[in-house]
Amino acid sequence: MKFDAQLTCAIKQANEEYPDHSDSCLLYSALFGKAGDFMININGLTKKFGRIATVNDVTMRVGRGEIFGLVGPDGAGKTTLIRMLCGIITPSGGTVTLLGDSSHNGRSKSHIGYMPQRFSLYGDLTVMENINFFGRMYDLDKNTTGQRASELLEITNLTGFKSRLADNLSGGMKQKLALTCALLSRPDLIILDEPTFGVDPESRKEFWKILYRLNKDGVTILVSTSYMDEAELCKKVAIMNEGKLVAVDSPASFKKNFAYKILELNADIKEPEFLGTLPGILDADFFGDRYHIRVAEANSGMKIITDSLVSRGIEITLLREVPPTIEDIFVALVEREAV
Ligand SMILES: Nc1ncnc2c1ncn2[C@@H]1O[C@H](COP(=O)(O)OP(=O)(O)OP(=O)(O)O)[C@@H](O)[C@H]1O
Ligand SMILES: [Mg+2]
Repeated sequence: MKFDAQLTCAIKQANEEYPDHSDSCLLYSALFGKAGDFMININGLTKKFGRIATVNDVTMRVGRGEIFGLVGPDGAGKTTLIRMLCGIITPSGGTVTLLGDSSHNGRSKSHIGYMPQRFSLYGDLTVMENINFFGRMYDLDKNTTGQRASELLEITNLTGFKSRLADNLSGGMKQKLALTCALLSRPDLIILDEPTFGVDPESRKEFWKILYRLNKDGVTILVSTSYMDEAELCKKVAIMNEGKLVAVDSPASFKKNFAYKILELNADIKEPEFLGTLPGILDADFFGDRYHIRVAEANSGMKIITDSLVSRGIEITLLREVPPTIEDIFVALVEREAV
């Protein structure tokens, strides 16, 4: 992976000027050696901090046109993996290959847009000044930056906020501005690290609508998230836990191949610990106002739960089998790994 020397230089300069924004290298171009079907190809990627492997021997591929979700809880290693992908930190082992098919769009360079987890735009600059800053980093002339900014601000619904200071934008708008900047080079691939973290549900929905629109226009998307509901929106999902890649599949295949049944229970249980200890109950998790209980067989599971609650004098408001969510699948897969 080679980097555009001029841009790398601009990133270094920005980092020196803004030491608090070490991720201000949020946009960079990569030059690619050869064409291929995979936009991202990672083999045995490992990162150790001291003796602990934060990313542990990860092998995965992201195909062109995918919305690929890197899903895992806090500390799973998502950001570390993404930083290695983007060349911000050096792997302890393994390889990263980013492939762009130059014939696909007639450009010899394929670009990558990167949006780091931490907000790394400049709060004391306006929306348009931030965009112009990143336009210069990309070596775009003023007219091109202006033209692309108009198109992108339209897509991200920020047209009316061009002269607002970034610090004065709402959380969701800040993220949309960061996305706008990441798209300025018209990348084939965008890598977004928890772009909706801490953003309200309505803005998250709007953000995902924008991602779908970009994907429809041919942009491949790698997006990390710890929101399991967002995993459902991806075409492919890589589940990460404690530095390891646990499984990769489409949400539909994950569900189709799930070997267990999920029972949803709504009951006023003061001390629910006993649920997980009942015979035949593999796992009991609390989801909002309901429990999701994993069993091998639905009918016998329902009988065991009903008998147990009745014997304790607990009224059951709802008990039924439901399709598994990605979160149910995550819990089962992680437990299998731990065995
Ligand atoms: N520079 C570092 N030095 C030491 N440990 C680190 C460093 N960077 C990350 N880690 C550790 O690696 C683990 C994974 O961190 P990482 O930020 O990659 O996880 P994550 O999946 O992105 O989590 P989150 O969802 O909270 O962003 C954490 O335990 C973290 O403390
Ligand atoms: Mg992270």
